[in-house]
Amino acid sequence: MIEFQQIDELQQWVQQEAAAGRSRILVPTMGGLHQGHLSLMDIAKKRAGEEGEVVVSLFVNPTQFGPGEDLAAYPKTLDQDRQGCEESGVDVLFVPEAGVMYAKDASLKVTEVKLSSGLCGRTRPVHFDGVCTIVSKLFNLIQPQAAVFGEKDFQQLAIIRRLVRDLNYPIEIIGGPIVREDDGLAMSTRNLNLSSDHRQEAVVLRQALLEAGKMLGDGERNAEHIQAHVEKRLMESPSAIPNYVEVVHPDTLQVLDEVTDALLVAVAVFFGSTRLIDNLCWREEK
Ligand code: PAJ
Repeated sequence: MIEFQQIDELQQWVQQEAAAGRSRILVPTMGGLHQGHLSLMDIAKKRAGEEGEVVVSLFVNPTQFGPGEDLAAYPKTLDQDRQGCEESGVDVLFVPEAGVMYAKDASLKVTEVKLSSGLCGRTRPVHFDGVCTIVSKLFNLIQPQAAVFGEKDFQQLAIIRRLVRDLNYPIEIIGGPIVREDDGLAMSTRNLNLSSDHRQEAVVLRQALLEAGKMLGDGERNAEHIQAHVEKRLMESPSAIPNYVEVVHPDTLQVLDEVTDALLVAVAVFFGSTRLIDNLCWREEK
Protein backbone atom coordinates (compact mmCIF):
# COMPACT_ATOMS: atom_id res chain seq x y z
CA MET A 1 0.00 0.00 0.00
CA ILE A 2 1.28 3.45 -0.92
CA GLU A 3 0.55 6.33 1.44
CA PHE A 4 0.38 9.98 0.35
CA GLN A 5 0.09 13.02 2.58
CA GLN A 6 0.79 15.65 -0.04
CA ILE A 7 -1.45 16.69 -2.92
CA ASP A 8 1.29 16.93 -5.55
CA GLU A 9 2.48 13.36 -4.85
CA LEU A 10 -1.09 12.09 -5.12
CA GLN A 11 -1.72 13.97 -8.37
CA GLN A 12 1.46 12.65 -9.91
CA TRP A 13 0.37 9.11 -9.10
CA VAL A 14 -3.14 9.74 -10.48
CA GLN A 15 -1.67 11.01 -13.77
CA GLN A 16 0.55 7.97 -14.03
CA GLU A 17 -2.35 5.57 -13.38
CA ALA A 18 -4.62 7.39 -15.84
CA ALA A 19 -1.92 7.23 -18.53
CA ALA A 20 -1.62 3.49 -17.92
CA GLY A 21 -5.41 3.16 -18.31
CA ARG A 22 -5.97 1.86 -14.79
CA SER A 23 -9.19 2.85 -13.00
CA ARG A 24 -9.41 4.25 -9.46
CA ILE A 25 -12.25 3.44 -7.05
CA LEU A 26 -12.49 5.86 -4.12
CA VAL A 27 -13.70 5.27 -0.56
CA PRO A 28 -13.74 8.57 1.37
CA THR A 29 -13.53 8.25 5.18
CA MET A 30 -12.70 10.23 8.29
CA GLY A 31 -10.79 7.33 9.86
CA GLY A 32 -11.75 5.57 13.08
CA LEU A 33 -12.29 2.65 10.74
CA HIS A 34 -14.62 -0.24 11.57
CA GLN A 35 -16.26 -3.11 9.67
CA GLY A 36 -18.71 -0.67 8.04
CA HIS A 37 -15.83 1.17 6.38
CA LEU A 38 -14.05 -2.08 5.52
CA SER A 39 -17.20 -3.39 3.81
CA LEU A 40 -17.06 -0.37 1.48
CA MET A 41 -13.44 -1.21 0.68
CA ASP A 42 -14.52 -4.76 -0.25
CA ILE A 43 -17.15 -3.31 -2.60
CA ALA A 44 -14.49 -1.00 -4.08
CA LYS A 45 -12.09 -3.91 -4.51
CA LYS A 46 -14.70 -5.90 -6.44
CA ARG A 47 -15.57 -2.90 -8.61
CA ALA A 48 -11.87 -2.25 -9.29
CA GLY A 49 -11.27 -5.82 -10.47
CA GLU A 50 -7.79 -7.12 -11.21
CA GLU A 51 -6.51 -4.00 -12.92
CA GLY A 52 -8.08 -1.14 -10.98
CA GLU A 53 -6.82 0.53 -7.80
CA VAL A 54 -8.66 1.17 -4.53
CA VAL A 55 -7.97 4.59 -3.00
CA VAL A 56 -9.05 5.36 0.56
CA SER A 57 -8.94 8.91 1.88
CA LEU A 58 -8.69 9.43 5.61
CA PHE A 59 -9.34 13.02 6.61
CA VAL A 60 -11.33 14.44 9.53
CA ASN A 61 -12.80 17.27 7.51
CA PRO A 62 -13.10 20.37 9.72
CA THR A 63 -15.55 22.20 7.44
CA GLN A 64 -18.33 19.65 8.01
CA PHE A 65 -18.33 20.17 11.79
CA GLY A 66 -20.30 23.12 13.16
CA PRO A 67 -19.25 25.19 16.19
CA GLY A 68 -19.73 23.12 19.37
CA GLU A 69 -19.79 19.80 17.47
CA ASP A 70 -17.39 16.94 18.19
CA LEU A 71 -14.45 17.79 15.88
CA ALA A 72 -11.90 17.75 18.75
CA ALA A 73 -13.37 14.55 20.25
CA TYR A 74 -13.55 12.71 16.92
CA PRO A 75 -11.72 9.36 17.46
CA LYS A 76 -8.28 9.08 15.85
CA THR A 77 -6.88 5.58 15.34
CA LEU A 78 -4.42 6.04 12.48
CA ASP A 79 -2.13 3.04 13.12
CA GLN A 80 -5.08 0.68 13.37
CA ASP A 81 -6.70 2.29 10.31
CA ARG A 82 -3.55 1.86 8.26
CA GLN A 83 -3.48 -1.84 9.19
CA GLY A 84 -7.19 -2.27 8.33
CA CYS A 85 -6.64 -0.71 4.91
CA GLU A 86 -3.58 -2.84 4.27
CA GLU A 87 -5.49 -6.03 5.21
CA SER A 88 -8.40 -5.00 2.98
CA GLY A 89 -6.09 -4.81 -0.02
CA VAL A 90 -6.26 -1.00 -0.40
CA ASP A 91 -3.72 0.26 -2.93
CA VAL A 92 -3.43 3.90 -1.89
CA LEU A 93 -4.14 5.67 1.39
CA PHE A 94 -4.42 9.46 1.21
CA VAL A 95 -3.99 11.09 4.64
CA PRO A 96 -3.62 14.85 4.27
CA GLU A 97 -3.32 17.41 7.06
CA ALA A 98 -6.04 20.08 7.23
CA GLY A 99 -3.54 22.71 6.06
CA VAL A 100 -2.84 20.62 2.97
CA MET A 101 -6.50 20.29 1.99
CA TYR A 102 -7.59 23.88 2.62
CA ALA A 103 -5.75 27.11 1.85
CA LYS A 104 -5.82 29.45 4.87
CA ASP A 105 -7.91 31.94 2.91
CA ALA A 106 -10.05 29.37 1.05
CA SER A 107 -13.13 31.26 -0.18
CA LEU A 108 -15.13 28.71 -2.16
CA LYS A 109 -17.53 25.98 -1.11
CA VAL A 110 -20.06 23.64 -2.73
CA THR A 111 -23.63 24.02 -1.47
CA GLU A 112 -26.61 21.74 -2.07
CA VAL A 113 -29.86 23.56 -1.35
CA LYS A 114 -32.70 21.03 -1.51
CA LEU A 115 -31.89 17.63 -0.06
CA SER A 116 -29.78 19.20 2.71
CA SER A 117 -32.58 21.20 4.29
CA GLY A 118 -34.21 18.47 6.41
CA LEU A 119 -33.00 15.55 8.55
CA CYS A 120 -29.38 16.10 9.67
CA GLY A 121 -29.21 19.40 7.75
CA ARG A 122 -31.85 21.01 9.95
CA THR A 123 -29.67 21.00 13.07
CA ARG A 124 -26.30 20.83 11.30
CA PRO A 125 -26.57 23.79 8.90
CA VAL A 126 -22.95 23.80 7.66
CA HIS A 127 -22.51 20.04 7.58
CA PHE A 128 -23.44 19.19 4.01
CA ASP A 129 -21.64 22.22 2.55
CA GLY A 130 -18.52 20.81 4.19
CA VAL A 131 -19.24 17.29 2.89
CA CYS A 132 -19.97 18.46 -0.67
CA THR A 133 -16.87 20.65 -0.69
CA ILE A 134 -14.45 17.99 0.54
CA VAL A 135 -15.96 15.26 -1.64
CA SER A 136 -15.71 17.54 -4.70
CA LYS A 137 -12.06 18.20 -3.87
CA LEU A 138 -11.38 14.46 -3.53
CA PHE A 139 -13.17 13.77 -6.82
CA ASN A 140 -11.08 16.47 -8.55
CA LEU A 141 -7.82 15.20 -7.10
CA ILE A 142 -8.34 11.46 -7.55
CA GLN A 143 -10.62 11.46 -10.61
CA PRO A 144 -12.10 8.09 -9.71
CA GLN A 145 -14.31 6.08 -12.04
CA ALA A 146 -16.49 5.14 -9.05
CA ALA A 147 -16.82 6.06 -5.37
CA VAL A 148 -18.44 4.06 -2.57
CA PHE A 149 -20.56 5.55 0.25
CA GLY A 150 -22.54 3.85 3.03
CA GLU A 151 -26.33 3.81 3.32
CA LYS A 152 -25.94 4.50 7.03
CA ASP A 153 -25.51 8.15 6.05
CA PHE A 154 -28.52 7.94 3.76
CA GLN A 155 -28.93 11.70 3.33
CA GLN A 156 -25.22 12.10 2.55
CA LEU A 157 -25.44 9.39 -0.12
CA ALA A 158 -28.49 11.07 -1.71
CA ILE A 159 -26.70 14.45 -1.72
CA ILE A 160 -23.54 12.96 -3.26
CA ARG A 161 -25.66 11.41 -6.05
CA ARG A 162 -27.10 14.89 -6.64
CA LEU A 163 -23.61 16.45 -6.57
CA VAL A 164 -22.45 14.07 -9.27
CA ARG A 165 -25.56 14.64 -11.36
CA ASP A 166 -25.71 18.41 -11.06
CA LEU A 167 -21.96 19.13 -11.39
CA ASN A 168 -21.46 16.49 -14.12
CA TYR A 169 -18.80 14.39 -12.44
CA PRO A 170 -18.29 11.28 -14.61
CA ILE A 171 -18.26 9.11 -11.49
CA GLU A 172 -20.46 6.15 -10.60
CA ILE A 173 -21.74 6.34 -7.02
CA ILE A 174 -22.15 2.97 -5.31
CA GLY A 175 -24.14 2.60 -2.06
CA GLY A 176 -23.07 0.01 0.53
CA PRO A 177 -25.53 -1.56 3.03
CA ILE A 178 -25.40 -0.69 6.75
CA VAL A 179 -23.09 -2.96 8.75
CA ARG A 180 -24.24 -3.60 12.33
CA GLU A 181 -22.92 -4.90 15.66
CA ASP A 182 -24.33 -8.25 16.86
CA ASP A 183 -27.05 -6.49 18.87
CA GLY A 184 -28.13 -4.45 15.84
CA LEU A 185 -26.46 -1.11 16.62
CA ALA A 186 -25.20 0.41 13.36
CA MET A 187 -21.42 0.52 13.42
CA SER A 188 -20.12 4.06 13.83
CA THR A 189 -16.82 5.66 14.75
CA ARG A 190 -18.78 7.65 17.32
CA ASN A 191 -19.81 4.44 19.16
CA LEU A 192 -16.32 4.60 20.70
CA ASN A 193 -17.38 7.75 22.58
CA LEU A 194 -20.38 6.07 24.30
CA SER A 195 -20.23 5.13 28.00
CA SER A 196 -20.97 1.44 28.62
CA ASP A 197 -24.50 2.27 29.84
CA HIS A 198 -25.19 4.39 26.79
CA ARG A 199 -23.72 1.72 24.53
CA GLN A 200 -26.23 -0.80 25.90
CA GLU A 201 -29.13 1.60 25.53
CA ALA A 202 -28.15 2.65 22.02
CA VAL A 203 -29.61 -0.54 20.55
CA VAL A 204 -32.98 1.22 20.93
CA LEU A 205 -32.40 2.99 17.58
CA ARG A 206 -32.45 -0.33 15.75
CA GLN A 207 -35.31 -1.72 17.83
CA ALA A 208 -37.48 1.33 17.15
CA LEU A 209 -36.75 1.11 13.41
CA LEU A 210 -37.49 -2.62 13.31
CA GLU A 211 -40.85 -1.91 14.93
CA ALA A 212 -41.53 0.67 12.22
CA GLY A 213 -40.71 -2.06 9.68
CA LYS A 214 -43.19 -4.37 11.39
CA MET A 215 -45.91 -1.70 11.31
CA LEU A 216 -45.34 -1.36 7.55
CA GLY A 217 -45.45 -5.14 7.16
CA ASP A 218 -48.78 -5.12 9.01
CA GLY A 219 -50.15 -2.61 6.51
CA GLU A 220 -49.70 0.72 8.33
CA ARG A 221 -49.44 3.52 5.75
CA ASN A 222 -49.91 6.61 7.90
CA ALA A 223 -46.50 8.27 8.18
CA GLU A 224 -47.43 10.19 11.32
CA HIS A 225 -48.38 6.98 13.16
CA ILE A 226 -45.03 5.44 12.26
CA GLN A 227 -43.13 8.55 13.29
CA ALA A 228 -45.01 8.83 16.60
CA HIS A 229 -44.35 5.18 17.43
CA VAL A 230 -40.62 5.45 16.74
CA GLU A 231 -40.38 8.65 18.79
CA LYS A 232 -42.24 7.08 21.72
CA ARG A 233 -40.07 3.96 21.58
CA LEU A 234 -36.88 6.07 21.66
CA MET A 235 -38.17 8.17 24.58
CA GLU A 236 -38.69 4.99 26.63
CA SER A 237 -34.92 4.67 26.79
CA PRO A 238 -33.85 6.72 29.85
CA SER A 239 -30.78 8.44 28.34
CA ALA A 240 -31.88 8.82 24.72
CA ILE A 241 -32.57 12.38 23.60
CA PRO A 242 -34.03 12.23 20.09
CA ASN A 243 -32.68 14.92 17.78
CA TYR A 244 -35.14 14.02 15.01
CA VAL A 245 -37.40 11.24 13.81
CA GLU A 246 -38.50 11.82 10.22
CA VAL A 247 -40.47 9.81 7.70
CA VAL A 248 -39.53 10.90 4.17
CA HIS A 249 -39.47 9.54 0.64
CA PRO A 250 -36.06 7.88 0.08
CA ASP A 251 -35.63 9.42 -3.38
CA THR A 252 -36.64 13.02 -2.68
CA LEU A 253 -36.16 13.18 1.12
CA GLN A 254 -39.47 15.09 1.21
CA VAL A 255 -41.67 14.56 4.28
CA LEU A 256 -44.51 12.08 3.66
CA ASP A 257 -48.04 12.08 5.02
CA GLU A 258 -49.22 8.91 3.38
CA VAL A 259 -46.78 6.14 2.53
CA THR A 260 -47.15 5.01 -1.09
CA ASP A 261 -44.34 3.06 -2.80
CA ALA A 262 -41.41 3.69 -0.46
CA LEU A 263 -40.28 5.38 2.71
CA LEU A 264 -37.24 6.16 4.77
CA VAL A 265 -37.52 6.37 8.53
CA ALA A 266 -34.45 8.29 9.68
CA VAL A 267 -33.47 8.96 13.28
CA ALA A 268 -30.78 10.90 15.11
CA VAL A 269 -30.44 10.47 18.85
CA PHE A 270 -28.11 11.96 21.45
CA PHE A 271 -26.66 9.86 24.25
CA GLY A 272 -24.87 12.46 26.33
CA SER A 273 -22.88 14.48 23.80
CA THR A 274 -22.66 11.59 21.29
CA ARG A 275 -25.08 11.81 18.39
CA LEU A 276 -25.98 8.57 16.61
CA ILE A 277 -27.95 8.12 13.39
CA ASP A 278 -29.69 5.16 11.78
CA ASN A 279 -32.41 4.56 9.22
CA LEU A 280 -34.77 2.05 7.71
CA CYS A 281 -35.47 2.17 4.00
CA TRP A 282 -38.60 0.34 2.87
CA ARG A 283 -39.89 -0.18 -0.65
CA GLU A 284 -43.15 -1.85 -1.64
CA GLU A 285 -42.53 -5.21 -3.27
CA LYS A 286 -43.59 -5.12 -6.89
P1 PAJ B 1 -17.20 8.52 7.82
O1 PAJ B 1 -18.19 8.81 8.89
O2 PAJ B 1 -15.82 8.08 8.20
O3 PAJ B 1 -17.82 7.45 6.88
C1 PAJ B 1 -17.15 7.04 5.72
C2 PAJ B 1 -18.10 6.16 4.93
O4 PAJ B 1 -18.41 4.99 5.69
C3 PAJ B 1 -19.44 6.86 4.63
O5 PAJ B 1 -19.81 6.61 3.30
C4 PAJ B 1 -20.39 6.20 5.63
O6 PAJ B 1 -21.73 6.19 5.19
C5 PAJ B 1 -19.81 4.79 5.69
N1 PAJ B 1 -20.24 4.08 6.91
C6 PAJ B 1 -20.12 4.49 8.19
N2 PAJ B 1 -20.67 3.59 9.04
C7 PAJ B 1 -21.15 2.58 8.26
C8 PAJ B 1 -21.82 1.34 8.53
N3 PAJ B 1 -22.13 0.96 9.77
N4 PAJ B 1 -22.15 0.55 7.48
C9 PAJ B 1 -21.86 0.92 6.21
N5 PAJ B 1 -21.21 2.07 5.89
C10 PAJ B 1 -20.86 2.89 6.90
O7 PAJ B 1 -19.09 9.97 6.03
C11 PAJ B 1 -18.01 10.47 6.23
O8 PAJ B 1 -16.99 9.83 6.90
C12 PAJ B 1 -17.63 11.85 5.72
O9 PAJ B 1 -18.77 12.66 5.70
C13 PAJ B 1 -16.95 11.84 4.32
C14 PAJ B 1 -17.88 11.27 3.24
C15 PAJ B 1 -15.65 11.03 4.36
C16 PAJ B 1 -16.59 13.29 3.91
O10 PAJ B 1 -15.74 13.87 4.84
